Amino acid sequence: MTTGLDRLILALDTDGPGEARELLSALEGELKYVKIGHRLYALGGLPFIREITASGFSVFLDIKLHDIPNTVSMAVDILASEGLWALTLHGGGGRKMLEEARKAKEARSSGINLLGVTVLTSFDDASWEEAAPGCPMEAALAKRAALCRETGMDGIVCSPLDLEVVKKEAGGLFTVVPGVRPAASGDDQARRAAPLETVKRGADYLVVGRPILKAPDRVAAVRAIASEIEEGLA
Ligand code: C5P
Repeated sequence: MTTGLDRLILALDTDGPGEARELLSALEGELKYVKIGHRLYALGGLPFIREITASGFSVFLDIKLHDIPNTVSMAVDILASEGLWALTLHGGGGRKMLEEARKAKEARSSGINLLGVTVLTSFDDASWEEAAPGCPMEAALAKRAALCRETGMDGIVCSPLDLEVVKKEAGGLFTVVPGVRPAASGDDQARRAAPLETVKRGADYLVVGRPILKAPDRVAAVRAIASEIEEGLA
């Protein structure tokens, strides 16, 4: 039976590896998926990733690769052999970049899941217009989702509000959804929804960071969100 913890990814956006280790040791044997972002990757690098993988966590390295195809391919060539569960690539990098990444993964016969990022969940309409003048967000989203499917990505990262479009354009790819908030919060996630609603909209995995990291009892927050996910699955 699938539990809420089979679908919850903790965004481990801690100050450093020490704090991350402390939190993970409290969640060992319970939490499965952990997302490492730029800060922890910069501080702990691959040795830290190997360490937490050895403790039994499935690691999602979220560094949103976005560069010329050859450079991205060289990075995937290395990362594909590290036993990662998933790695993000920015859909804005275009077809060739995504294709070269997939080929690099295949050349290593790696089980890593390559995830395309569509539009960051921090964009609202005004900030998006500034970043991509004249291109409606929905059009960019639909195009990038279709591109992820066409180039053989395994999954897609998108906001809860984008799930409908993404599922239409990239059916078959699994969805990983940040911007999940148990209740109204005043941070930088503009396009967000509660866990229950996110699951009902069809998200496969939910990424949650600050609602857990800023909670007075982080372990209790993980359990509460997992049970809300479970409710959505039922
Ligand atoms: O703290 P919060 O729950 O907002 O964390 C969400 C995580 O998901 C962050 O680590 C952020 O970098 C990541 N993310 C995102 N939007 C995307 C892709 C990843 O918020 N489109």
